Amino acid sequence: MHLFLADPDTVPFLADELRRAAPEASVHEIEGLGIAEAVNLDGLLLAFARQTLPDAAEVQAASINAWADRIIDAVAGVLPDDQPWHLHLWPQYGEGRAGLHRCELIYATLLERLKKRRRHLLRALIDSDAVFDAQTSLVQCILTSPETGWLSTTIAPRAFALRSLVSSYPFGEVPLADDKSAPSRAFTKLVEAEQRLGKRIERGETCVDLGASPGSWSYVAIQRGAHVIAVDRSELREDLMRSPRLRFEAADAFKYQPPQTVDWLVCDVIAAPQRSIDLLLEWLREKRMRNFIVTIKFKGHDEYALLETLKRDASPLCAEFRLTRLCANKNEVCAFGVV
Ligand SMILES: C[S@@+](CC[C@H](N)C(=O)[O-])C[C@H]1O[C@@H](n2cnc3c(N)ncnc32)[C@H](O)[C@@H]1O
Repeated sequence: MHLFLADPDTVPFLADELRRAAPEASVHEIEGLGIAEAVNLDGLLLAFARQTLPDAAEVQAASINAWADRIIDAVAGVLPDDQPWHLHLWPQYGEGRAGLHRCELIYATLLERLKKRRRHLLRALIDSDAVFDAQTSLVQCILTSPETGWLSTTIAPRAFALRSLVSSYPFGEVPLADDKSAPSRAFTKLVEAEQRLGKRIERGETCVDLGASPGSWSYVAIQRGAHVIAVDRSELREDLMRSPRLRFEAADAFKYQPPQTVDWLVCDVIAAPQRSIDLLLEWLREKRMRNFIVTIKFKGHDEYALLETLKRDASPLCAEFRLTRLCANKNEVCAFGVV
């Protein structure tokens, strides 16, 4: 049984997406939290799943101590010796602090016990959101009430192999970036995609920004020391237009072609979803970029199935292909990856 977590508003779209991916499987919701299903996770892409708990087991634990014991049972003698592991522990019930407080107590008790009896496990426990490598294991524990929940252990190297489904961020939630000087809040999407990918625009790289105005994506790239070709019908914010690192092209984003392969295609153009999908596929087939972050925008909820072509056709063209409705996305999905 696998548990897939989504933003509560998008759980029905995640269920549809799972049904398209695994028509034979029975898909259902659990306590409004997500979808559980026995499907093959290998190669699966789910735009609406923020996090996956592979092979999750239902757990009951009557006390803080009992929860700590359950977690120890899930890791002791199970995780590879002296290899790093992450623990995501989170309440999915009630409002406010009560559930969080319980999880903090469970975490503190767990640390105490590891300190006394399993120091090697304590040493290997990592307290960060660093993107997984092939040595990292992940333990996820969700409390659906004070005494019930789900526990999932993903042993290295499987967490890494499933990184398009299994996030190093607890429950797949990436805290939104903050920068009051950016021309708009849209830059949070770019930064979140970079964080999920574990790769970011760097100094000296070249970047084409399609649909760039007012310029918050270009702003991030310029701040990092990259060179940007910004394509839009409207100019970007004045200071960005003056930047020696930015070249503005008043052109149609769908017709623009870079003179040579660029390090990054970033695209936040407002267009029908099929147009953005076709644009990305064309750039991938023509090998015009090494990395990409592309927003696919929707009107209403009827066209999400269009993403299936993208999953099918883009994945073989990429070393790494991700498709996620980001925390920073509204009615959008972000395609990002490495060619
Ligand atoms: C959501 S905004 C981009 C915001 C930008 N990423 C930022 O962070 O400031 C979308 C942009 O796409 C541009 N756009 C829409 N269709 C376009 C086209 N065919 N060619 C070029 N730009 C286009 C619009 O002018 C608009 O500035």
